Amino acid sequence: MRFADRTNEMKASEIRELLKLAEDKKIISFAGGLPSSDSFPIKKIDRMCTKILKDYDTAPLQYGITEGITELRVTLAKRMKKFRIKCKKENLIVTNGSQAVLDLVSKILINPKDIVAVEVPTYLGGICSFRNYQSRFLTMKIDSNGMKTHELEDKLRKMGKKKREKVKLIYAIPNFHNPTGVDMSLERRKHLIEISKRYHIPILEDDPYVELRYSGKDTPSIKNLDKEGLVIYTSTFSKIFAPGFRLGWMISEEKFARKITVAKQGTDLCTNIFCQYLANEYIKSGAMDKQIQKIRKMYRKKKDKMLEAMDKHFPEGCKWTRPKGGMFIWATLPKKIDTEKMFHEAIKHRVCYVHGAAFCVDGSGHHSMRLNFSNADEDKIELGIKRLGNLIKSKI
Ligand SMILES: Cc1ncc(COP(=O)(O)O)c(C=O)c1O
Repeated sequence: MRFADRTNEMKASEIRELLKLAEDKKIISFAGGLPSSDSFPIKKIDRMCTKILKDYDTAPLQYGITEGITELRVTLAKRMKKFRIKCKKENLIVTNGSQAVLDLVSKILINPKDIVAVEVPTYLGGICSFRNYQSRFLTMKIDSNGMKTHELEDKLRKMGKKKREKVKLIYAIPNFHNPTGVDMSLERRKHLIEISKRYHIPILEDDPYVELRYSGKDTPSIKNLDKEGLVIYTSTFSKIFAPGFRLGWMISEEKFARKITVAKQGTDLCTNIFCQYLANEYIKSGAMDKQIQKIRKMYRKKKDKMLEAMDKHFPEGCKWTRPKGGMFIWATLPKKIDTEKMFHEAIKHRVCYVHGAAFCVDGSGHHSMRLNFSNADEDKIELGIKRLGNLIKSKI
C-alpha cells in the first residue's frame, strides 16, 4: 500500500493506548474528558424519540442538507443571542461534534507546512486535526489570564513577511480551557482580536464549556468582539446533552460557511439527521436549560470535592489551577517528577490521569497532569486523589 505523504505525520494517540490500561473498573480515572454517565437525561431522550417520529414522520430517518436541518439551525442561531453572538442560519453549520469543525477548518485552510498558532498546553484533539494536515506550530504559553497574547504578537512581529503569511489560524479555547481550566481575560480577548485584525489571521474559537460555569460572571466571547468576521466559532452538545450523539456546530461568515459546506459534502454528506431533530426538541422544550442547571450543580460539587482533596493530600511543591467551570484541573508537580513515567505506577495504585506533555507541542509539560473531575463518582474523587497524593509524596 502506498499511503499519502500526509500520513507520515499522523501520530497514533499514545494517550488512547495508555487509557486502555485504565479500563479496569478498579481504577479511579481522572483521565478522559467525559461527562458523568449519571447526567444523561435517558427518560427525556426516550420520550423525545417517540415525539419526533410522530411530529416529523420519516424526515428524521432520511438524508438531509449538508449544513444541517433548518429547524435546528434557526433554533441554535436564536440561542446564540444568549451569548451575544449575532448570526443567521446561513452562518451556522451543524457538524459531527466540534471535532469535525477542527478537521473541516483545517481541511480548507492548511497546506502542508502552514502554521497554526496554539496555546501550550492545548486540546489534544486540536493538535491531532492540525497535524493531520501537516501543519507546523507557533506556540504561546498560558497564565492565569489565559493565552499570553503578547507572546503571539512578539513572535508575529519578529517573523519575516513570508513566514508570517504561512500562519493560517490562531486556535483558542477561551472558556474553562482544556486542559488547564483557565479563563481568558477580556483584555486578552480584545488583544487577540486586534492581532488577528492587524495580520489578517482568522481565529478558531473553540467553546465547548461555555455553559458549564460554576461561579463568576461570563466574559464576552471572542466572536462577540469580532467586527471583521475573522472569528470562526464552534461549540457542541457533547457536554450538555450526550457526546454519543456527535453533534456540534460552527458559526462563521457566509462565504467561509459555503466553503466548509463543500468540504463537508465530501466528508459525510450530512450530520446525523435523527439526532438533529432530537437536539432541536431538546432545546425548544426547555429540557436543555434544565439539564444545564442540573449538571452545573453536579459538577460544581465534584470540582469542589477534588480541590478540597488536593488541598488535603497533595504535598508541598505541587500547584494547580482552581477553575470556575468546565471539567479540568491542571496540576504541576515538583521538577523531579516526570508524570508520563509516573503513569504506570499510578495505574498500579489504581488511579489515572493524562500526563501534561501530551498537550504540549513544544516538548514541555513533563511535570504536569490533567485531572478530570466530571466523570468519577463523588465518593471516589477523594479516594483517587488520596492515592495520587500518596504516590507523589513517595517520589519527593
Ligand atoms: C476543547 C475541545 N474542543 C473540542 C472537543 C470535541 O468535542 P466534540 O465531542 O463536540 O467533538 C473537546 C472535547 O472534549 C474539547 O475539549
